[in-house]
Amino acid sequence: MPVDHWPGKPGTIPVTSGRADDANVHNRNYLDHLLVEMRLIDSVKPDLTTTLFGHQYTSPLTLAAVSHLNQVLDDPQRQPMQEKARAAKQLNVLNWVGMEDDPTFTDIAKQGADTVRIIKPFADHQRILHEIKIAEEQGAVAVGIDIDHVAGADGNYDVVDGLSMGPITEEDLTTYAHSTKLPFVAKGVLSVQDAKKAQAAGCAGIVVSHHHGRVPFGMPPLQILPDILKAVDRRTMTVFVDGSLMTGYDAYKALAMGTDAVLIGRGILKELLDDGEDAVVDKVKQMNQQLSQLMIYTGVKDMQSFDPTVLHYE
Ligand SMILES: Cc1cc2nc3c(=O)[nH]c(=O)nc-3n(C[C@H](O)[C@H](O)[C@H](O)COP(=O)(O)O)c2cc1C
Repeated sequence: MPVDHWPGKPGTIPVTSGRADDANVHNRNYLDHLLVEMRLIDSVKPDLTTTLFGHQYTSPLTLAAVSHLNQVLDDPQRQPMQEKARAAKQLNVLNWVGMEDDPTFTDIAKQGADTVRIIKPFADHQRILHEIKIAEEQGAVAVGIDIDHVAGADGNYDVVDGLSMGPITEEDLTTYAHSTKLPFVAKGVLSVQDAKKAQAAGCAGIVVSHHHGRVPFGMPPLQILPDILKAVDRRTMTVFVDGSLMTGYDAYKALAMGTDAVLIGRGILKELLDDGEDAVVDKVKQMNQQLSQLMIYTGVKDMQSFDPTVLHYE
């Protein structure tokens, strides 16, 4: 079935309980139903160079925000958050940083990778404005909020490290986006409605995502991605996507749909925690090779040349 006529819901999706882990079953199921045709004649080895927010990178694969990892290992010498930033620097790809205290964020930013700082939707708006300032001071290339971390499992606003989250209005988003000269990103957009509101608020970027399953029964981000891409003005909006993209082949499918770049979180998590910086570099290089391989097979020569009609939903 050609790309414009994908079904709203795949018929073979397993029945699940809505737990976070199940979101990945739905993501995987959707990704694995997307098949590619071949376009080999005249195809050449592709150039993966990617421009995001005016900066040039070697690949559209970016390293997702995976916070608090400095607290999960027994080895006091290890600092996975800084190691991930150094891997991004080595690779010359964009590094996302999520919830960290100011000193930790500052030290991560000092590792030299281009950083997108994602701030929690704190109930305390002054805290958000403060963290935006710190991101500016530390030379972040963009800053934003993971708007999908508002609700907690107890039906209240979530509380993380003793800090309460709060509601995000379009007016709030407008205030934050206009409080900084940095591009502002709304992370955790999973509807055309939120994508349009983010654009109206002055966001320069969105991440189509459900934060690996924060919302019970969240639809696969790739399933809604084509509608969102059509709904926003791509001249002023950079669109990222994430959600169970574990290989370069998965990334290819998102890029073929027309997203500007992808975030890889759990796809590098084991390598990061087990072996650190160089293992992440090796994993991303392998994913780049897989991406290149599918680009050659489908006649895509660079980041501007993806064509969604190569994908078929089976
Ligand atoms: C351990 C862990 C910590 C995370 N912390 C944050 C965070 O602080 N801020 C944020 O925006 N996203 C956070 N995320 C979500 C990821 O950035 C990403 O949206 C999500 O994991 C989906 O991508 P994936 O399927 O490639 O892992 C975290 C994910 C993981 C696995």
